[in-house]
Amino acid sequence: MNMARIWESTGPERTRAFGRRLGSLLRPGDVVGLIGPLGSGKTCLAQGIIEGLGVQGPIPSPTFTLIHQYRGRLPVYHFDLYRLEDPRELEELGAEEYFYDDGVTIIEWAERAGDYLPRSYLRLELERVPGREDNARRVFLSAVGEGYLHLVKALLEEELPAEELPGKER
Ligand SMILES: Nc1ncnc2c1ncn2[C@@H]1O[C@H](COP(=O)(O)OP(=O)(O)O)[C@@H](O)[C@H]1O
Ligand SMILES: [Mg+2]
Repeated sequence: MNMARIWESTGPERTRAFGRRLGSLLRPGDVVGLIGPLGSGKTCLAQGIIEGLGVQGPIPSPTFTLIHQYRGRLPVYHFDLYRLEDPRELEELGAEEYFYDDGVTIIEWAERAGDYLPRSYLRLELERVPGREDNARRVFLSAVGEGYLHLVKALLEEELPAEELPGKER
């Protein structure tokens, strides 16, 4: 994994706007993995991304359904793997057909996909900021595998403050 870079959000609207900008930059086949505990803002960010892909109307959380599909300027597949008990369940869902499709795939709780997660994806890890007000969130951006570094760079170019951090080891 490359060096992780950090972006800070001061509230849900900022997170959503950040997502919209990412959505406007995504290309066919791109995969975005969202990682972070409940309430860290994954769905909020995903909603922004989906809006940025040109999808209109309500964008619910797919927690109970595992996947919601949209049609924006590209097909969009929004997964939430919170309720996944075993990565093998993804086979029954036919998830790999989505992950490797020409649409855009956004996966909340991406780490739960285990070996089914594509080798390359844009990884966004969210967390509350310890000791700060409730609306502060940190997003660690990293390009896993090939083909996502341009997005990390593009997202941080305009969105300051951004600082280089030592790679978050895991
Ligand atoms: N900076 C922020 N970014 C995103 N959500 C925030 C932020 N500050 C507060 N929140 C709140 O935190 C909650 C995040 O919920 P959600 O996006 O559903 O999280 P997750 O999908 O990670 O469980 C929402 O209630 C949202 O209003
Ligand atoms: Mg969620």
